[in-house]
Amino acid sequence: MKPAVAPVKNVSATQIAFQNLLQRSYGVPGIALLHGPSGQGKTTATTYLYNQVNGIYVSARAHDSTSSLVSRIVEELGASPMHRISKCVDYIIEQMSMYERPLFIDEADYLMNDSRMLDTVRDIYDGTEVPVILIGMDQIARRISTRKQFYNRISEWVEFKPADLEDVQIMANYLLEDGIVLEEALLDHLRRSACGEMRRLVIGLSKIEALAIANEIELVTLDDWGDQPFHGLRQPT
Ligand SMILES: Nc1ncnc2c1ncn2[C@@H]1O[C@H](COP(=O)(O)OP(=O)(O)OP(=O)(O)O)[C@@H](O)[C@H]1O
Ligand SMILES: [Mg+2]
Repeated sequence: MKPAVAPVKNVSATQIAFQNLLQRSYGVPGIALLHGPSGQGKTTATTYLYNQVNGIYVSARAHDSTSSLVSRIVEELGASPMHRISKCVDYIIEQMSMYERPLFIDEADYLMNDSRMLDTVRDIYDGTEVPVILIGMDQIARRISTRKQFYNRISEWVEFKPADLEDVQIMANYLLEDGIVLEEALLDHLRRSACGEMRRLVIGLSKIEALAIANEIELVTLDDWGDQPFHGLRQPT
């Protein structure tokens, strides 16, 4: 499998949302929320984007406090540790403003448990007006809607949806080794078995690729694959 990011619809939607933030009119707030179930490609789409735009990326953790979160952002900016939260926040605001570096916070669900962390992210945004992108799971959209001050600053929402057949085709084109082509019926069978979840699609594609290489097949059909599962236990033969 090739180490590529396939430009599926969720990836394009993320890029469009980010462009909208950059080009927003005066007065329109600049926070985006990317949300969707596990394995749908949120972190991959974010990684692809922040590398292009010189973003700052942190992933929140279950035991984070305001102090540990801002310290990790400071570390990510290449500075030595600062002991006071206010110093960290000042430094982050200065760096984001000076170099127009957007801030990406993955696993942002963990911010929802602690209003001080969320308020600090809002302070950072208010102090810079440089885009801030939060990435979280399904429930984040609902939970954030109860935090009005934060919610009102979100101007772009991207809901990550399951891959459709066209997305699976794009993934096969980008990820499979050159010369291996899959029949549409097999792609659709894979899509349905994986419920359109990117993580499971990648596992399935890698198994199909291994079958193609082992048997020197160039066009792999549904018949070639048979009725074995793509994921989980193999059925006894
Ligand atoms: N656009 C893509 N192109 C290629 N592979 C992808 C793409 N999106 C996702 N994947 C694959 O699917 C896996 C899961 O994606 P990712 O970790 O981005 O999902 P997630 O939505 O962040 O999941 P979680 O909520 O569990 O963190 C990745 O490790 C990668 O292998
Ligand atoms: Mg993720």
